[in-house]
Amino acid sequence: MKLDKIYEILDSIAPFSTQEDWDNSGWQLKLDDKEVKKILVTLDLDRDSLNQAIEKDIDLIVTHHPLLFESVKSIDSNSFLYELIKNDISLISLHTNFDKVFSGNNDYYGGLLGLEGLKGEGFIRFSKLREEVSLKDLLYRVKAINGEEPVFYTGNLDSKIKKIGFCVGSGSDFIQEAYEEGCDCFITGDIKYHTWQYANSLGIALIDGTHFHSEKNFSDNMYEMLAKKIGDSVSLEKPVNLKPPYQFI
Ligand SMILES: [Fe+2]
Repeated sequence: MKLDKIYEILDSIAPFSTQEDWDNSGWQLKLDDKEVKKILVTLDLDRDSLNQAIEKDIDLIVTHHPLLFESVKSIDSNSFLYELIKNDISLISLHTNFDKVFSGNNDYYGGLLGLEGLKGEGFIRFSKLREEVSLKDLLYRVKAINGEEPVFYTGNLDSKIKKIGFCVGSGSDFIQEAYEEGCDCFITGDIKYHTWQYANSLGIALIDGTHFHSEKNFSDNMYEMLAKKIGDSVSLEKPVNLKPPYQFI
């Protein structure tokens, strides 16, 4: 399948025109309109995914986070961009268009949290639970996704949660909206010190699902969507070593 055709399919999944103004979803690197046989679908272009792509003769990498945001003024031979060019690997990213789209990152994360009847548009989703849960129960749902990484939160563990708001990635700015929608708890990533304080002042529970863990399932979700549309002519791969860009002890 040609690169342009795959771009068209990705656009039909999450239209690139719906991305935010500051975003750079779409082509990161387009190397000829050659026949694509293998695609790697992953959250980020990092050293591991690049090595996997080189070893496995990948023709195209599809990521959530764009490699390029700012203008490139020079290209170093150690850069990912150079290595992609050298190994003839194209790169397309679906960032804010895939956060917002129905069944995209946000809806998939809601499913992982066991939340039903998701409402909301743009970057935020709400779920009114049929039966209230304790904050502690909800925290353990987040913990089941985050594995051994600690889960930061604020709120009373025994408090009852009836309505939840969430935003994958970095959504601290939406806490006010969640509060105004009557949410008892808001879940997002990249939470700053003052946002914790603000949550306490509002009296809304806040959980840091982390940027990475709330979005790491991009590859599973996109893999399934692409597989349905692409058929057998192109083989799809997921990252063999998906990990956050930091460590913890
Ligand atoms: Fe993100």
